[in-house]
Amino acid sequence: MRNFLSLSDAGPDGVAAMLADALDRKAARAGRPKGKPDADAPLAGHTLAMVFEKSSTRTRVSFDMAIRQLGGSSVILDSGTTQLGRGETVADTARVLSGYCDAIMLRTDDHAKLEEMAQYATIPVINGLTDDSHPCQIMADLLTILEAGKPLPGLKVAWLGDGNNVLASIVEAAGLMQFDVVAACPQGFQPDDAVIGRGAGRARVVSDPAEAVAGADVVITDTWISMGQAHADTKLKAMLPYQVDAALMAQANPAAVFLHCLPAHRGEEVTPEVIDGPQSLIWPEAENRLHAQKSVLRWCFGQIG
Ligand code: CP
Ligand code: NVA
Repeated sequence: MRNFLSLSDAGPDGVAAMLADALDRKAARAGRPKGKPDADAPLAGHTLAMVFEKSSTRTRVSFDMAIRQLGGSSVILDSGTTQLGRGETVADTARVLSGYCDAIMLRTDDHAKLEEMAQYATIPVINGLTDDSHPCQIMADLLTILEAGKPLPGLKVAWLGDGNNVLASIVEAAGLMQFDVVAACPQGFQPDDAVIGRGAGRARVVSDPAEAVAGADVVITDTWISMGQAHADTKLKAMLPYQVDAALMAQANPAAVFLHCLPAHRGEEVTPEVIDGPQSLIWPEAENRLHAQKSVLRWCFGQIG
């Protein structure tokens, strides 16, 4: 039984094994109706509990379809309609869900809640996004980058905008998979040293957007206002020079691809001509949440890696 709270829980070999498994399984079920289980149904009889303390479209649907395609089923709990939302502790919820289900995916704010869930659950716990990190998103991003024909070692990734939870997982991936990240973030919104330290020397922060994208193979951004954050005009103003537009994209490697975890705000962190343009891989990236998470689930049950 394994928890997937961060990419480091799997390490480089685990991440590589999951990515290889995801590529294989995606190819193997090409053309199959999406609700039809994979031929081998490797998690038949398993039920995933998904607990949401924040909104979600992709994570909710992709995990639901992932467990179905693996032959299992899911139960979705929103904090607003469960006792968790009325003050029942995470620890008690963990122990109760462990008696009914086979794995838990939690989306929450404070990362400590995820760690508490993992401490008290007796079944695998998966990070479905916290204020600290979003490892499942980065599994999908790495899969998308590989499918674009770009090997991970030596890759140059540019991040623009807010030094947030998604960046933290990209930095962690860089350290594990031996690629480089240059994050251009405005003063006051840069990731702290501990987050950059997760990159084991492969990540650095700059303030000049052009410096980040120079020679980049992948350009990534995310919303300027994450869930739970206040809409502050000062922040939006500070972020404006970090908008990914065609002029900035043109300074990256000509074969560079654009990624965004979504939901996107066209005209804020990215212009329509980039996110809806030929270098954008946002739709395969979103679909790959499904394929990557099937391998995360299999890894949690010791089926791979
Ligand atoms: N990218 C992502 O996690 O999307 P949702 O918030 O819709 O799950
Ligand atoms: N940084 C964003 C990611 C959403 C998928 C947030 O936390 O809201």
